[in-house]
Amino acid sequence: TGLPPFSDRLLGWYDRHARSLPWRVSPGDRAQGVRPDPYRVWLSEVMLQQTTVAAVKSYFAVFTQRWPDVQALANAADEDVMGAWAGLGYYARARNLLACAREVTRHRNGRFPETADALRDLPGIGDYTSAAIASIAFDEPAPVVDGNIERVTTRLYAIETPLPAARKAIRVRVAEMTPKSRAGDFAQAMMDLGATICTPRSPTCILCPVSEGCVARQEGRQEEFPKKLAK
Ligand code: ADE
Repeated sequence: TGLPPFSDRLLGWYDRHARSLPWRVSPGDRAQGVRPDPYRVWLSEVMLQQTTVAAVKSYFAVFTQRWPDVQALANAADEDVMGAWAGLGYYARARNLLACAREVTRHRNGRFPETADALRDLPGIGDYTSAAIASIAFDEPAPVVDGNIERVTTRLYAIETPLPAARKAIRVRVAEMTPKSRAGDFAQAMMDLGATICTPRSPTCILCPVSEGCVARQEGRQEEFPKKLAK
């Protein structure tokens, strides 16, 4: 077709509609060469595992004011960090957060590794978080797959396999779609598309920048995806 490539259409939409979030560098600033602070990217991504954007905002503000860099966090008392985490849930995340800050500060000269593979060796950093940090902070084209991106991708390709078995196919598709440049903006554009347009119920396909290439939409079946294994 005569359409621009998928990633160009999505990034063009993101340039106009990116959500403004406390841990995010806007696409305009990013284009001017502003680099995200890996510490803030890491902290926000750990907080956003299993917690909503709305709930994370105030915690992120408190943490970054009290502990502005990874060294400050590494030197915090355990009970202060656990106390500040109270309410976010999943307390193993907070313990891993501290362990990771101390590892980076004491054994890696205060600098986060810059590849997804190396990031995955740190406490509390798995497949999702390593890819998110590598792409957003360092623009590595690592495939980022969270719940929103699973939904967007299963609709784009009408993936009939139910979750969780579909995860492998989703990852392959996301790896194909992720552009060599602006990988971090691309991942965040997929997240924003899933959060604001390609929603679980009644997605607003009429506003979607990539609806023309969406197989589920072409078939009028957008709400059928992702399929889930019957419980
Ligand atoms: N959810 C997890 N990471 C996110 C990010 N960087 N932007 C928006 N939503 C997110």
